[in-house]
Amino acid sequence: MQIGLVCFRETAPRRLSYKREVTSLEPTLRPQETKDHRSVAAVRRAWYVAAESRELRDKPLAVTLLGQPLVLFRDGGRQASALLDRCAHRNVPLSLGEVTSGQLQCGYHGWRYDGSGICRHIPGLCGESEGAARRVPSFPCKEAQGYVWVWMDPDAEPDVEPWSLPELGSGYTRVRKTVTFPGSVHATLENALDVPHTAFLHKGYFRGSGASHELDVVVRRYGDRVEAQYIGEPRPSGLAGMILAPGGGVVEHYDRFFLPSVGQVEYRLGERSHFLVTSICTPVTDFETRVYAEVAFRLPFPGWLVRPFIQPLALRIFEQDRVMLQAQTEHIERFGGEQFVSTEIDVLGGAIWRLLRAAERGEIQASDEPEERRLKLRT
Ligand code: FES
Ligand SMILES: [Fe+2]
Repeated sequence: MQIGLVCFRETAPRRLSYKREVTSLEPTLRPQETKDHRSVAAVRRAWYVAAESRELRDKPLAVTLLGQPLVLFRDGGRQASALLDRCAHRNVPLSLGEVTSGQLQCGYHGWRYDGSGICRHIPGLCGESEGAARRVPSFPCKEAQGYVWVWMDPDAEPDVEPWSLPELGSGYTRVRKTVTFPGSVHATLENALDVPHTAFLHKGYFRGSGASHELDVVVRRYGDRVEAQYIGEPRPSGLAGMILAPGGGVVEHYDRFFLPSVGQVEYRLGERSHFLVTSICTPVTDFETRVYAEVAFRLPFPGWLVRPFIQPLALRIFEQDRVMLQAQTEHIERFGGEQFVSTEIDVLGGAIWRLLRAAERGEIQASDEPEERRLKLRT
């Protein structure tokens, strides 16, 4: 009786009024309260890949970076340019227009902008077209290594160059692939550099089908990056392991994160086998990350022999990660925020988050003296 009374008192003030929208009421049945926190950082003073160079041809290209709609186009000198995708006149997307004489022409009244966002022509206007209010914000833009990079602080002078893929010399096969993940940059990069999930989510491809081993892990945190070195790891069991090192042996394995959003996994087995997987991540929105991935490898046998297996294998593994990241993202949203519990074998997730937060606040100091910690991991 008493319990019934308490329940009645709690629910009584919430009488349904059928004149109101039922959906506007605070729901009674919902997941337990969670702190309203999501590991999303907006690092704006940084270069991000906006597109592959080959995607940007004669037409304007609409892209979104850090939630900001941008338009890319090639100016008179075929230089890639990036403007806010909003016409100064009536705010329609400039990406609906076209490129004329190296200028971006709005599809509505034909205002034309150059690569720095200055309005150069207004059809029908008897007078100057230029003017500060008619200018569209422009973002520093450059092409390097087959990608179009955009500095996400508009009208600013970048103080660093875009991240560059390592020079590997001859004898390497490179395979590139662009994949979109339904997760934040933090969740996507933690996933890309996380060892323990490989034995479960990717069972049979990496680890999880052989005897277990205890590894030493050395984590080195620098001012703008962090790396984990795995020592004593045998050749991974499973299909990936057989391709990496048909003869077995001990693997040299590093996982690295570089600000603002690059992940790198390196496997080396002696002088002959070397795999380097680089994931350059672009935050499209808070919970959508585009990954420009490059797998570079050298093996004891010709690359063309392995290449047909690499692509389907990588796509299968990406798909398993994509499905899990989507489930994670949707579930965190359902609970209204994150409530993570970590152990020391969640080796890089915490360090990546701390670096992203420091970069967001502008508190990064590059340093070559690492802070080092050691731990053990059973695989
Ligand atoms: S809205 Fe672009 S020219 Fe009018
Ligand atoms: Fe994975």
